[in-house]
Amino acid sequence: MTDQNRARNVQAQRRATTPAADFTIRFYQAGDEGLINAFYNDPSQRPGAGVCGVPARTNSEWIWEFASHNQDSGIPYSLAFDQERLVGIQGFLPIQLIHDGRVELSEKSEDTLVSPEYRGKGLLDQMYRMLFERALQRGVVVQWGFTSTAVKPLIRSGFKSLGKVDFYRLNLSARAVAASILRHTSPGLPRAEAFANAVLRFPQIIRSSGVSLIRRFFPRPMPPGMEVVELTKLDEVCDQFSARFSRAYPGISVHFSGSYLHWRCFKNPYFRYRVYAANHGGEMVGLAVFKIDDRSRMGIVSALAAIPTETQGASIVLNALLETGLRVFARHGCRSAVAWCFWSHAFSNLVRDSLKKVGFFNFAADTDFMVRAVTSNDPSYLNPNNWFICEIMSER
Ligand SMILES: CC(C)(COP(=O)(O)OP(=O)(O)OC[C@H]1O[C@@H](n2cnc3c(N)ncnc32)[C@H](O)[C@@H]1OP(=O)(O)O)[C@@H](O)C(=O)NCCC(=O)NCCS
Repeated sequence: MTDQNRARNVQAQRRATTPAADFTIRFYQAGDEGLINAFYNDPSQRPGAGVCGVPARTNSEWIWEFASHNQDSGIPYSLAFDQERLVGIQGFLPIQLIHDGRVELSEKSEDTLVSPEYRGKGLLDQMYRMLFERALQRGVVVQWGFTSTAVKPLIRSGFKSLGKVDFYRLNLSARAVAASILRHTSPGLPRAEAFANAVLRFPQIIRSSGVSLIRRFFPRPMPPGMEVVELTKLDEVCDQFSARFSRAYPGISVHFSGSYLHWRCFKNPYFRYRVYAANHGGEMVGLAVFKIDDRSRMGIVSALAAIPTETQGASIVLNALLETGLRVFARHGCRSAVAWCFWSHAFSNLVRDSLKKVGFFNFAADTDFMVRAVTSNDPSYLNPNNWFICEIMSER
């Protein structure tokens, strides 16, 4: 954790939240999804609701995300009421992590929302407390999430910020090049500064667009003995590969089990997903998940994992997977692609190099990765360099 980050964690803890009196906080009960969605889809409660033509979330979408993959009895989702009125929601997705080869249960924070009139009363804190107690009983090792808007309230609830995530972008069309230049004019900045930003970024954006164009039309030849194939069935082969990946690159990552990928990719009601395996000598040596957002015509590198083959390093496998991804995105009409990367995990460094090789460039983002240890006192969870997570996994 950097000094700057440590200071943010301490500062946010200083302000104690005003206790919320007279509110009822309870867990989700069957049938609540209609009430939750009416709250979540209301632009007066959540400013992001309805923007850019994003359709309202349906009940079956909520059930897919929060209930269908949950093997446990009960769903880690809490609701806060003032009398009969719903005024706050907070959920968690149970996600298996793989930590130095061990599979562990974690929870990812989602649906963090308190009605504007009820903010600043510590309601989020109360919902989190209830969910934390539940997680403790269930043996959840760690809770985690991403946020740009709720860093301070999350720190007050016991999370730590491990720092900001690195975003990478790649342009696949002239229109995307223009959009990325305009995006770098950063709204809110003084005009002169914004213009200077755009000029400074210009060579990098043009260079990366050129690289991606060359890679798309002149891909490097596939290394001897390697093939990249689309997976149409996600089963225990994925579990075994995920375990081998974790042994090759110790640290903490999402466990890419067949059942997790099947739920997240093949059953996903929001986006189309394509899953690819790299095989070498009959053995799986790489896995890539590419997500296609037709609405914004964007491709998302959702998951990447690769291990060295008998003769070549993991970067060769990564490059082959990413070049396949470029072709998949272009075939599906994507104008741009994005990817995420974390700090200095050994595999993140390889991913970063490979992203640059196919034309991705780094751009500023303001999203913190938040972690809270639940049952474990292991300090390794609070070291950002132990984490390798490729995707943010929020569908909206
Ligand atoms: C993030 C959020 C859930 C926090 O809930 P909360 O129960 O209000 O949390 P807290 O009581 O700890 O107060 C949070 C902050 O809101 C401030 N606040 C007080 N009244 C407020 C109001 N009417 N409107 C906005 N913020 C207010 C508090 O002073 C506090 O500020 P600080 O963090 O700078 O000290 C809530 O602000 C929210 O729903 N935001 C919009 C959705 C969002 O950003 N979700 C996170 C996505 S990852």
